[in-house]
Amino acid sequence: MDIAHALDLAHQASDAVRGTTSPNPAVGAVILDADGDVIGIGATAPPGGPHAEVVALHAAGARAHGGTAVVTLEPCNHYGRTGPCSKALLDAGIRQVFYANADPFPSAAGGAEFLRAAGVDTHFLDQPIRALQPWLSATRLGRPHVTLKFASTLDGFSGATDGTSQWITGDTARAYVHEDRSKRDAIIVGTGTVLSDNPSLTARTDTGLYEHQPRRVVIGSREVPDSSHLAQLGYEQYAGIPEALSALWDTGCRDILIEGGPALAASALRLGVVDQVQAYIAPALLGAGKSVLTWPQETTMDEIMRFETTSVRQLGSDVLIEMMMRKKH
Ligand SMILES: NC(=O)c1ccc[n+]([C@@H]2O[C@H](COP(=O)([O-])OP(=O)(O)OC[C@H]3O[C@@H](n4cnc5c(N)ncnc54)[C@H](OP(=O)(O)O)[C@@H]3O)[C@@H](O)[C@H]2O)c1
Repeated sequence: MDIAHALDLAHQASDAVRGTTSPNPAVGAVILDADGDVIGIGATAPPGGPHAEVVALHAAGARAHGGTAVVTLEPCNHYGRTGPCSKALLDAGIRQVFYANADPFPSAAGGAEFLRAAGVDTHFLDQPIRALQPWLSATRLGRPHVTLKFASTLDGFSGATDGTSQWITGDTARAYVHEDRSKRDAIIVGTGTVLSDNPSLTARTDTGLYEHQPRRVVIGSREVPDSSHLAQLGYEQYAGIPEALSALWDTGCRDILIEGGPALAASALRLGVVDQVQAYIAPALLGAGKSVLTWPQETTMDEIMRFETTSVRQLGSDVLIEMMMRKKH
């Protein structure tokens, strides 16, 4: 098997565990034997469990000797709750290592250098890995990676003038939102959304719940009623966004989704803590109603807040546009 195909398998292994590994990264690893056949695939286990390389080496067994490892992130080089993966690869007799991303975490980086110094042929592939992007961003920023999600009509309204706001998008888009929630560490909403929509903030399939459920977080000073779904399911409440981000970071969250509403979304953008935006756009018009943002962001075109589109996907008859925040000069 060629390295690109093996990286594809490692990429899929990363994707499969996204949401279950924080504060650790969702890494995927593939071991090829000396003939280039796949003999082990692994992904990061939940915190405290083995890293991807160790899982893949375990699956490969003795045939790993003289083989190749293809990993989505540079093998770690430190003694945390588990031993260094760089040493595990060396001890297993791996002769070649390909990794897609460098480890930005100072205490864990250096795995590639260690392997090279030990005579292992080591290559940096410099390939983006979807499941690792939030973790890489969070590690650089020292706070959770924040994705702001909203659903709106073509003309940017998230609710009608009579106050009704559910549901703007169709079944396919909503199913996608639930799958996305199942890969996040936490979902945040403001008290306004809790009081008007009584959301559960769970990640649901057609028949039940996804195995991984994000933490449910509310921001604001108003009380969440005892009779609400959130009160029954359990949630955390914070007075403001910085307090929430700091507490979530300290307790292991790296990848969070702000699901609104318009006041919280506007505050998060103003604070400059939004790294990515997901706009679910329905092919519908209202002409008037509640905007996706409560407050204006800028008053002149020169200072308009712009984003870099990273993907556009059709979900039923709706469209999901994913964007990264564009840095102002
Ligand atoms: N289309 C969509 O994507 C979407 C998504 C979610 C909600 N919605 C709709 O939005 C409507 C609710 O709108 P909303 O603007 O009232 O909801 P919201 O943004 O969920 O809640 C607003 C409240 O959140 C708290 N808050 C917001 N920013 C804060 C900050 N920086 N610091 C501290 N607290 C902050 C405040 O709570 P306190 O007043 O308690 O202090 C504020 O009153 C509903 O109709 C809902 O259906 C639409």
